[in-house]
Amino acid sequence: MKKLIMLPGPTNVPEPVMRAMLEPMINHRSTSFSKLLKRIMEKGQKIFQTSGDIIGLTTSGTGGVEASVTNLVKKGDKVIVTVFGEFGTRLSEEIEDMGAHAIKITAPFGDAPSISAVEEAFQKNGKVKALYVVANETSTGVAVRWLKQAGDLCSKHGAFFVADAVSNFGGDDIPVDAYNIDVCVTASQKCIAAPPGLAILSVGKRAKQYMLDNPPPMQYLNLPRYFKYAERGETPFTPVLPLYWALDAAFDIMLEEGMEKRIQRHKICADAFYSAFKAAGLETFANPQNRSNTVVALEYPQGFNDKQFRGAVEDNYGVVLAGGFGEYSGKLFRVGSMGEVHRYHVMTTVAAVVNTMKQMGTHVNVEAGLSAAVSGLKSLS
Ligand SMILES: Cc1ncc(COP(=O)(O)O)c(C=O)c1O
Repeated sequence: MKKLIMLPGPTNVPEPVMRAMLEPMINHRSTSFSKLLKRIMEKGQKIFQTSGDIIGLTTSGTGGVEASVTNLVKKGDKVIVTVFGEFGTRLSEEIEDMGAHAIKITAPFGDAPSISAVEEAFQKNGKVKALYVVANETSTGVAVRWLKQAGDLCSKHGAFFVADAVSNFGGDDIPVDAYNIDVCVTASQKCIAAPPGLAILSVGKRAKQYMLDNPPPMQYLNLPRYFKYAERGETPFTPVLPLYWALDAAFDIMLEEGMEKRIQRHKICADAFYSAFKAAGLETFANPQNRSNTVVALEYPQGFNDKQFRGAVEDNYGVVLAGGFGEYSGKLFRVGSMGEVHRYHVMTTVAAVVNTMKQMGTHVNVEAGLSAAVSGLKSLS
């Protein structure tokens, strides 16, 4: 059975993107590759809304986030970092691994820290090198809605602004230059709707110059090398060629749809999920004010069997859902509402979830859930 991949990455990949990967191998030190790289750079600049560099790293998102740390953060630096879930925790550890002092701005899981807490940290800590923000905490389904204000604060305090937008870039509005984001990290398998294997970073002029002047002591995730090779249309190391073709095709789809329309579609689909699950009687994990537009996290009723539920949803409906992380394993499940997500994905997933819950003896209102989903999707074109 063909599966509907409703994970917070990898997600469903459109056919033209899959087909693009069948391109025969080429020499990555050739004009053909230089042309491909140039196209990706130009399309990427439009999508990230930046005049900075677009770098594709042959690694998953973690490599991209790690490169954003290892190329900017030095021993002894003070770095503010938001921690409100698994990915913020990892980020703060990476910052500390560099010998820097991580000033953690925390929030209970399910919530997001406030911009005033970030502002206070800037005021209290003197010279801060950078602010790292997880724009969308995939483990809890929570998004930060003050990226613009954070960019303004960083400009005011002369700090670099880095966004881990791995799970919402392309699904939420993140105009990189308008928000003063120096480094924005995402990955191919999330809202870009390409297969996993590429981390994509935008690096602004100021951060690029700093990195060139202060290269990190490493070979592979060494961004200055990528900048220098990009000038002659190459990457320093053998790139994952099929994914470069896939990214080129995925960028075309994004540009054809238009970023505004794409972001609106993500918002409508996520809102439809939230209202459908609420009408059915399920609890959203995230504080409603900070809920994500790309990852919908839902709490299980007390004593519910996660493995049995997700197994039945997959076996009977072909819908693949994600479980919870760490201490939330078995307590919540997550729906990736990203990439290609549209009416069909939302309706099929809501039907699979509420019907399976009912079959497993939970009190859910199947009809109310389905009709809330239908109403929520009305404005989708
Ligand atoms: C916010 C965030 N950061 C980083 C990562 C790591 O990405 P990857 O699993 O591609 O290494 C993820 C993956 O889900 C993520 O959601």
